[in-house]
Amino acid sequence: MDGNGRWAKARRLPRVAGHRRGVQAAREVVRAAGDLGLEVLTLYAFSSENWRRPAEEISDLMGLLRRFIVDDIDELADAGVRLRVIGDYQAFQPDVVRLIDGAIARTASNGKTTLVIALNYGSHNELARGARLLAERVQRGEMAPSEITAETLSEALYTADLPPVDLLIRTSGERRLSNFLLWQTAYAELLFVDTLWPDFGKVELAAALQDFGRRERRFGGL
Ligand code: FPP
Repeated sequence: MDGNGRWAKARRLPRVAGHRRGVQAAREVVRAAGDLGLEVLTLYAFSSENWRRPAEEISDLMGLLRRFIVDDIDELADAGVRLRVIGDYQAFQPDVVRLIDGAIARTASNGKTTLVIALNYGSHNELARGARLLAERVQRGEMAPSEITAETLSEALYTADLPPVDLLIRTSGERRLSNFLLWQTAYAELLFVDTLWPDFGKVELAAALQDFGRRERRFGGL
């Protein structure tokens, strides 16, 4: 969800104003995802590298996350959205962890759209954690080293029961993956748009899906 800071700067507003508009955009995109029939929508809200930001901005982001869960959980639950979180969100403050766990539990049996929020997430950490989990199983004698395969490693990631990524959209003109779902995007279509995240909404999502529909996907075949 890139470009919140630049959106605010262009309006001579504090960065938090851009993040606030970013949450509004997220709300609109989640609704649109349901309307457009998307099975899974993942939003990258806080990376494991975002701790490098000033304490005040981190605190603002945590405040927005709290508000988003408190204010939106009813609507999400009613709309049949299942909330999932990927990343080490247990490192957040205890009240945030409780809110997240409550929202996950409350929406666990919903099946229309899965909203995945990446929080304190980084692909390298996720892959190292997955490798560690498998190594511990080997050490306990529960599996053999030869059983460490692409499949068992996939199952040891946060995204275990989610499908691979079909389309990755990066906003604000950045053309990097920035440690996001590196394993899961092996065959994803990549779309880089110049739109800043606060300006990204239903129209932009629908256009992205149209673009995706024109791609020819061969998955290594002919
Ligand atoms: C990227 O813009 C945005 C973020 C690092 C934070 C996004 C998180 C939120 C808006 C809060 C939680 C929201 C939800 C929906 C759970 P940037 O600050 O890197 O922008 P810039 O590149 O223009 O500076």
